[in-house]
Amino acid sequence: MRIAVVGSGYVGLVAGACLAEIGHDVILVDNNQAKYLALVSGECPIHEQYLPDLLDKHRGRRLIFSNKLAQAAAACDAVIIAVGTPPASHGEADLSYVESVAREIASSIDRYKVVIGKSTVPVYTSDWVRRVLLLNGVREDLVDVVSNPEFLREGTAVTDFLYPDRIVIGANTPRACSVLEEIYRPLVDGSYYEREDRFRFPLSEFRLAKLITTTAKSAELIKYASNAFLAMKISFINAVATICDFVGADIDEVREGIGSDERIGYKFLNPGIGYGGSCFPKDLSAYHAVARECGYDFRLLEEVVEINNQQRERFLRKVQKALWTLNGKRLGVLGLSFKGGTDDVRESPAVTIIASLVQKGATVCVYDPAAASRGREVLSSDRIRYAKSIYEAAEGADALLILTDWDEFRHADYSLVRDLLKYPIIIDGRNLLSPEKMRALSIMYFSMGRPDVRPLHMADPTASRTEVSQEPIYGTYQPAMEPESDDSALVE
Ligand code: UGA
Repeated sequence: MRIAVVGSGYVGLVAGACLAEIGHDVILVDNNQAKYLALVSGECPIHEQYLPDLLDKHRGRRLIFSNKLAQAAAACDAVIIAVGTPPASHGEADLSYVESVAREIASSIDRYKVVIGKSTVPVYTSDWVRRVLLLNGVREDLVDVVSNPEFLREGTAVTDFLYPDRIVIGANTPRACSVLEEIYRPLVDGSYYEREDRFRFPLSEFRLAKLITTTAKSAELIKYASNAFLAMKISFINAVATICDFVGADIDEVREGIGSDERIGYKFLNPGIGYGGSCFPKDLSAYHAVARECGYDFRLLEEVVEINNQQRERFLRKVQKALWTLNGKRLGVLGLSFKGGTDDVRESPAVTIIASLVQKGATVCVYDPAAASRGREVLSSDRIRYAKSIYEAAEGADALLILTDWDEFRHADYSLVRDLLKYPIIIDGRNLLSPEKMRALSIMYFSMGRPDVRPLHMADPTASRTEVSQEPIYGTYQPAMEPESDDSALVE
């Protein structure tokens, strides 16, 4: 099938490359001249595992680039809209890019085509796109608009696309649905995985994708609801980790106990400094705005966001508890991106935390395997220095802070790190390291929802008066609500 993909951001670029990989002829369109020229000249504008290989494999063959939208749309059977939907003034998604694509492709629809929405959009967007197409002269029987949300994650985007757990097709007509089924057939019937030239990933297990067909409105809701649910899981475990800090319990043990219930599962139950990125923060406020417009006050979402914001504060308080004053301290920092595996620093909790540390008078030497140049664009201060390695960031620092979950940080040589640090103190906002290992290395170690690791003679001087006590307080902890000695205690 010939497919035009409009927008070469994360979703468009990965979708375009992967659709070429499963056998389609793809024209990837971007009206940003710099991006377009970079792609034509063989660059890969984002840090994403396997994507450069896929682009190299298909560039100029099954994947070509264009900056002429109407021409590309005219040549194709399906047009995928994957342009940005940034937040507008009240948190709602700004759909003006989606609308202008619809307007521009209208003149190219002179035979049946399917217009596919892949951008994350509110309910009714498919209806609006169809309306814009018709208003601009498209014959009603020549177009269907489908919602086909994308669930890929940055860092694992290519594997997520080629080995999806589900594909959602929100189509209002059988004709449109069959076009989408044809596009995804190689993944759903497994024929792609039988091909000799398929991309081989080190995957431990995989199952054929489940194809879910719905109405366009349901598909649009599935996308927002999925992201909101995942964000809710993260805020939930972060709130539980805070209680662990209060009572001296261990979030790893609690997570094991919760996650082993198959109804709950372990995924997205990792506590830390909160979620960031270009999706969860934006999509939660957009979903909240959608609910508000429908007359429903979705307060649960507000609480998810509130807990997420508090996590950064909690981490900063931990840093202060470990180091006392920050003015004049020199801190080594590992991580800038919003999560490991990507150079994306949008809404990154690491960036906010570094900015706060600098504001409190600390100087920071930060290392990130991929995000330094993007970090420089958003964090400019003569008190921030960018290191070329973990060890350079640690050298001479009063403490080392871990803010992003890169594998490289997990597997570093921490006895060397300890020797390079001025004081052997690590504050881990991602629970990447093992407290036992830190204890064995005589490193003072603070993490999220787990008991501190510190020598006995270094007890926390603030333990009795801070909100969150880090010391085990067994023996002194009393449940807040003692059963009263009235009859109600006897009711079974
Ligand atoms: C998210 C969704 O996971 C994708 O399914 C979706 O397609 C995408 O948004 C999107 O809407 O485009 P992404 O933003 O790439 O993907 O990253 P995630 O892996 O979901 O992580 C989001 C944030 O949550 C990161 O800051 C991560 O560090 C944090 N996180 C994740 C936690 O703090 N704890 C966890 O257990 C998991």
